[in-house]
Amino acid sequence: MAYKLRSLISNKIVQAIEGFPIGGRGLKPSTILPCVQVDSKSGGEPEFGVSLKALHHLGIFTDHDDSTRSLAHVGSSLVEKLETDTTIPAAYLCQGKTDITLKFKVDYSLLASEVISITNNKPKSFWQCSALINLLPHERVVVEFSSPNIAKPFHVGHLRSTILGNFVAGLHAALGHTVTRINYLGDWGTQFGLLKYGYDSQNLTESDLKEDAVKKLYKVYVWANRQAESDPSVADTARQIFNKMERGDPEALSTWELFRRVSVEDLHGIYHRLNVYFDEYHGESMYGSEKCCEIVKAMEEKGLLEALPDGRKIYETKHGQKVTIVKSDGSMMYLSRDIAGAIERHDKYDFTKMYYVVENGQSDHFTHLFRILEQLGYDWVQGLKHIKFGRVQGMSSRKGTAVFLQNLLDEAQEVMMDKQEDTQTTKDSARVSMGKVAERVAVSSIIVGDLKQRRQRDYIFSWEKALQSRGDTGVKLQYVHCRLVSLERNCGFKYDSEMPLTPALLTQPPAARLIRELARFDEVLLETYSELEPCVLVAYLFTLCGSVNKALKQLPVKSAPREVGEARLAMFVAARHTLAAGLNILGVQPLEEM
Ligand code: ARG
Repeated sequence: MAYKLRSLISNKIVQAIEGFPIGGRGLKPSTILPCVQVDSKSGGEPEFGVSLKALHHLGIFTDHDDSTRSLAHVGSSLVEKLETDTTIPAAYLCQGKTDITLKFKVDYSLLASEVISITNNKPKSFWQCSALINLLPHERVVVEFSSPNIAKPFHVGHLRSTILGNFVAGLHAALGHTVTRINYLGDWGTQFGLLKYGYDSQNLTESDLKEDAVKKLYKVYVWANRQAESDPSVADTARQIFNKMERGDPEALSTWELFRRVSVEDLHGIYHRLNVYFDEYHGESMYGSEKCCEIVKAMEEKGLLEALPDGRKIYETKHGQKVTIVKSDGSMMYLSRDIAGAIERHDKYDFTKMYYVVENGQSDHFTHLFRILEQLGYDWVQGLKHIKFGRVQGMSSRKGTAVFLQNLLDEAQEVMMDKQEDTQTTKDSARVSMGKVAERVAVSSIIVGDLKQRRQRDYIFSWEKALQSRGDTGVKLQYVHCRLVSLERNCGFKYDSEMPLTPALLTQPPAARLIRELARFDEVLLETYSELEPCVLVAYLFTLCGSVNKALKQLPVKSAPREVGEARLAMFVAARHTLAAGLNILGVQPLEEM
């Protein structure tokens, strides 16, 4: 936010540098723009700060090093040259331990009215008119996430991938990229032979899978696995059945199709509860032996494969590890399918970036994948990225050990319902909507509880903590959003974004602090984007909510003189839009009542 001021400051810096013996001539203001940041620590009225180290990294002061002494020297010459005016009345240096910040005082009225009017007049994607966000090139981005394995439970790793991937896709779409969301199902492999073996042995039919298909299939799978453990011939039979599938045997394939169909229907239910959707469902089954043959040929031509006497074809990694690409019976591997998949997706989507949102544990797999593609000569491999994340402990069902996501969601919803009943006298008519609200709050808590962690860190999930209304939880964010909605509904007059605003009525410290937080939103989005770390945005939303709560307490709307109330309401409406925008980007649907 604060689009004009940020640009004005960048222009002034460029002007000061021009014709000035510190290098960096011909510099564009847009290069400097991202360095111009709202000073998040200033106590009084908001200021902007520019790190001299960051300017140095742009190669501006070519004839100086980045020691603080040298920076101080350049900084004071810069300050001397900077022209101030009523909009930017002062520039001064502020010395830190390892850096020096060039600070700018700005016309607070201009800042406040700009932040509020831009936010409230373009509520859907107001941050997109920010000069900062406009600097981003528009790209075609593929995000592959969730990607559970059919016939096995949807575990917490898949839940994290779903939440994180949904955020990555949402953030890119919000910033104006064209995004394709792909769910790459683990719907192929020997486990389907085993599953069909179990299904046939138990004489099951489609009607047995009418309800709770995934749980039932999982039971069958577990049973078949046990059989295979005690009797090696079962594993052989399973392999033969899968081989039939690979060869396109109609009977074997029609059972496989049934498994896939009922599982995907079940998944749809889960994704609906989480408010997550996909543009396409792909799966490993799309890359059977025939499709992979071409890449095997290409790899052989480049000398990347070694044929072993037992019939396997293997690839040697950078560190001398040998990974199988083709098994001795000619069937393909997880890695082989991913190579074929990446090439096909590039042909189809012509992406500039493709993200694989998959747990840390598969790092080696993606390192191998990217290296092979590079050796095959695909330069677009530069745009591929494995978005890794750590493990979660403690997110197992409280009632049992099998982690079915449905159960997790049901339990979280129950806990929320209990809490609501404790705090409200509930009318019967309100019960149904309470259930829905409880579910949305529960889902928000799970999402926020997850996204507030640094992506790659392992963490311990606690239901107690996640569902609290105090502390940094999804419940709190929703609660503050509801308070803002209720303020608008109950303050006694209607907000009109066309009405002129009197920023001079918003100078009390809690207002200045809130305006400062609102002005930071686009910076925060940019930082979240460049690191793909949702915790940056989550931390910001908590700080924002802290400022909102303080302001709500100290700056009444209804009881204030009308003109003051109107200015405050305008500010609170801007806060609501910003909070809602942030929540939506995280994949959380903001609630109006709870
Ligand atoms: N289905 C896999 C699993 O659960 C994750 C798939 C990740 N994506 C990929 N393109 N390999 O382990």
